[in-house]
Amino acid sequence: IHPTAARNDTPIVVESEKTVYTDEYITSTYDYHTQTVINDNGVFKVTPKVQTYQFRTQRKVPRMGLMMVGLGGNNGTTLTATILANKHNIHWHTKEGLQTPNYIGSILRASTLRLGVDPSTGSDVHVPLSSVLPTVHPNDLVIGGWDISSLPLDQAMQRAQVLQYDLQRQIAPLMASIRPLPSIYYPDFIAANQEERADNLIPGKDKQAHLEQIRKDIREFKQSNSLDSVVVFWTANTERYSEILPGVNDTAANLLKAIEQSHEEVSPSTLFAVASILEGAPFINGAPQNTFVPGCIQLAEEHQSFIGGDDLKSGQTKVKSVLAEFLVNAGIKPLSIASYNHLGNNDGRNLSAEAQFKSKEISKSSVVDDMVGANHLLYKPKGEGEKKGEHPNHLVVIKYMPAVGDSKRAIDEYYSEICMGGRSVINIFNECEDSLLASPLILDLSILAELLTRISYRCVDANGQGGEFKPLYTVLSLLSYMLKAPLVKPGTDVVNALGRQRNALELFLKACLGLEGQGDLLLETRVW
Ligand code: NAI
Repeated sequence: IHPTAARNDTPIVVESEKTVYTDEYITSTYDYHTQTVINDNGVFKVTPKVQTYQFRTQRKVPRMGLMMVGLGGNNGTTLTATILANKHNIHWHTKEGLQTPNYIGSILRASTLRLGVDPSTGSDVHVPLSSVLPTVHPNDLVIGGWDISSLPLDQAMQRAQVLQYDLQRQIAPLMASIRPLPSIYYPDFIAANQEERADNLIPGKDKQAHLEQIRKDIREFKQSNSLDSVVVFWTANTERYSEILPGVNDTAANLLKAIEQSHEEVSPSTLFAVASILEGAPFINGAPQNTFVPGCIQLAEEHQSFIGGDDLKSGQTKVKSVLAEFLVNAGIKPLSIASYNHLGNNDGRNLSAEAQFKSKEISKSSVVDDMVGANHLLYKPKGEGEKKGEHPNHLVVIKYMPAVGDSKRAIDEYYSEICMGGRSVINIFNECEDSLLASPLILDLSILAELLTRISYRCVDANGQGGEFKPLYTVLSLLSYMLKAPLVKPGTDVVNALGRQRNALELFLKACLGLEGQGDLLLETRVW
């Protein structure tokens, strides 16, 4: 399947009494099987449970806008050019020949899900992930956003040095008309070396006025482009962490008050998140800082608005969330993981400052916690009064090396204990154009977030009776596959393992069609 061909793909119709189609909705009935486990005097007592849910998906795909904060950066310009090249079917010459546009790297547009078996051939049938439920096609997105740098997008794309010259040349006229809206710049939050690009600013220091301007920008963008929905995406510079201060950002009311008082600990990214929440626009944080301070999550809950984050999981960390899962599940014990990067783009320049590096270090470091925590045979669990159980040593280094530009180098060493005191070393060297990995993730995150706003649910009893349909929970943890440090419902466990994250998403999309997810059991191949 060509990644861009999914728009014309064979439609899916589920023939089951559990799946009902109307013009407006697909409504599925789904039995959710779980187990509770109690340790009863040294015996694990397991009780299977079944809860029946109904999921209702609005079928009409909206006219959708994507507003990026950091539109003029490497990700912002690369994604915009990718969409325009696909939309206008622009081909360009490289030394290898003629290149056609595509969405490779997007799980929605370039990966498939196993739907079932064709009885006539006995073979598996796969469909693009994007066609399981009605999703917005990336070519149809209306792009806009903000940047503290005023360069129109043709020049910003040139500055980014990511795309091939022949593509830049052809696409420049389409990019030139897109100009980032002025943004909020609080110098203390990003590296001092960014100051020279900050020439496109909303004036003044009044944070309440800034909030209102951003809200107005979202409303006007929606209105002037006749959009049904807008997703706001932070792909601006990594900020330093905000301090969590009681009375300032610990509750929704305090956060709103802190904005009114222009408190210094309210970051630009939190202001954008608050503006989006108040406008009912899903907000996704593609960078590592703690935009979602407790008060911000509470505000989103109160407004039943959707948020997702943090930090795009593009290259090295994606591999780590596969490799650590593989090792620990193979019963092999990683003793240390050493990760080194160098990169030469503006992101790398910003991360060369200590406070911004710290945000990235935290985000990159938590990625093996769940896998390690799940295996008490290899790692000693947390004891009384201890903050953490046994854990591999984990080191993250990032260096700025202008010469390599956007083409990031990452070296990882996995040093593990194997049988009878043996040792194993796996080294990975990975080189990749960062923004070309990140751009499809921004698409997946935004388009899936929009889809999740169209899905509502209710619990039903044995007679099929239930209450009103409700939206999903505020924090969209189903987006975790694309995120380095997934934000989850407070009080619940984070899942970092890539396989489990993908599985969760597939199971959920299938559940919305009333389909069970036990695809890999393949009982028919195991019995007579
Ligand atoms: P970039 O530095 O090229 O672009 C960031 C843009 O944000 C710049 O144009 C800058 O002027 C703008 N900006 C800074 N503060 C702003 C504000 N307050 N309001 C509006 N615009 C503002 O960086 P790049 O490579 O596009 O990455 C963007 C973010 O995504 C970074 O935080 C990076 O850490 C994160 N990220 C990138 C990944 C990748 O593979 N490219 C992977 C994971 C995360």
